[in-house]
Amino acid sequence: MEAKKKSKAVFVCGACGHEAPKWLGRCPGCEAWGTYDTEALIVPSRGRDVGGGPAGLGGSGPVSLAQAMVGGAPRLATGIGELDRVLGGGLVPGGVVLIGGDPGVGKSTLLLQAVDSLGRAGKRALYVTAEESAEQVALRARRLGAGAEGLWLLAETDVERVVAEAERFAPDLCVVDSVQAVHAVEAAGIAGSVGQVREVAARLVALAKSRGIATFLVGHVTKDGGLAGPRALEHLVDAVLYFEGERGSALRVLRATKNRYGSTSEVGIFEMAQGGLREVANPSEALLRERPCGAPGTVVMPCASGARPLLCEVQALVARPQTAMVRRVSPAFDGDRLALLLAVLDQRAGVAVLDRDVFVNVVGGLRIDEPAADLAVVLAVASAARGRVIDAQTIVFGEVGLTGEVRAAAGVAERLREGARMGFRRAILPEASRARFAEEGGTCAMELCGVKDVSAAIEAAV
Ligand code: TYD
Ligand code: MG
Repeated sequence: MEAKKKSKAVFVCGACGHEAPKWLGRCPGCEAWGTYDTEALIVPSRGRDVGGGPAGLGGSGPVSLAQAMVGGAPRLATGIGELDRVLGGGLVPGGVVLIGGDPGVGKSTLLLQAVDSLGRAGKRALYVTAEESAEQVALRARRLGAGAEGLWLLAETDVERVVAEAERFAPDLCVVDSVQAVHAVEAAGIAGSVGQVREVAARLVALAKSRGIATFLVGHVTKDGGLAGPRALEHLVDAVLYFEGERGSALRVLRATKNRYGSTSEVGIFEMAQGGLREVANPSEALLRERPCGAPGTVVMPCASGARPLLCEVQALVARPQTAMVRRVSPAFDGDRLALLLAVLDQRAGVAVLDRDVFVNVVGGLRIDEPAADLAVVLAVASAARGRVIDAQTIVFGEVGLTGEVRAAAGVAERLREGARMGFRRAILPEASRARFAEEGGTCAMELCGVKDVSAAIEAAV
């Protein structure tokens, strides 16, 4: 191989992708112990550039912006609306999407449904199965009622054979399930090791770019929620999606953490059923279906981070710590932000929570990272700490500042519209947002309760 001549050996941290010229016991990048792959990875000394620039833009010399706008590659819609929206309007020819999630969450099911749908639309789709046999995939396809003419299966684990078959077959869409189960003969390590996964992914990305094949790579998620193997995989690809759900619930949430072709704020909501994944027509209703009534520590928040507003339930639990160290657990909300909000609650509103264990969650596997989620988290914690129930007909949103002030939020009209649509009667929102909404002539069926600071919000809510 040409590239190998100018190559060097590096050791890679399996947790964060940090590279070092020699093996290290402790990673200087993420400070984890024993995460370095014991075998070196051979990489070209200058970063390998796969296939001359991003798909659809070509790699030969400058183009004018106007030209690039006209020549934008047409999207390949999978026909699964929730998936297309998260992708930013469908797949892009030559684009590579990594999709991660726990085993059993439904990655294979989702992608089989996507390739089947594209097959029905007259596209050629190749589903490379490296974990299951073609018969197993066919069985699942039957269960899903999939059977499009254009859908082809390839049971193969050698990346060179996958590439050769894909080049010969020239599909519009290729799925590789999973990237950890495919191996590259030339790279060191066993299938699924850092070096292997990187090499396999690099080969598949090169294939996608050179032949304009839209590609899905399935990746397994490790115990701590990262994509197994190197994070380095994440910057090889154009988009990274996570498919998640809570144990025992049929609801599944699809979201992007990286997307070169669209925003990362859209979420797709599905329900796992007998015949596969179904798009959820009314996500707010599905997310609030099992909401407890009359319990402290729960509040409804209207999210407006994507193009579609969504109502979700924020829950909090405040407990006496079992050890000298207090615990803060919030899988769905930024941990540092939570620490800050707890300090604000304690210092500015007199709700003593700093010596307590605090748990915050968002029901349904959704994640909230917009600033307007602050007030919902604050009120859920205050409600839990005081054992007082927040009225079940109330929605809450607003950003919280360090002095305890409640700051204006974006997307006020959309949030209020969704709350009213779902039959809520009252909204607690930043006073500045309420005033602007009224000034602009906005009307709402709900009672609007504008608050200027956290104390006023707590008074209004609990
Ligand atoms: P799968 O797509 O194999 O998950 P992954 O590829 O992420 O490991 O989905 C496995 C689960 O989905 C399994 O527990 C069965 C369930 N399932 C259904 O409930 N209905 C269906 O129609 C299918 C195909 C799977
Ligand atoms: Mg699978």
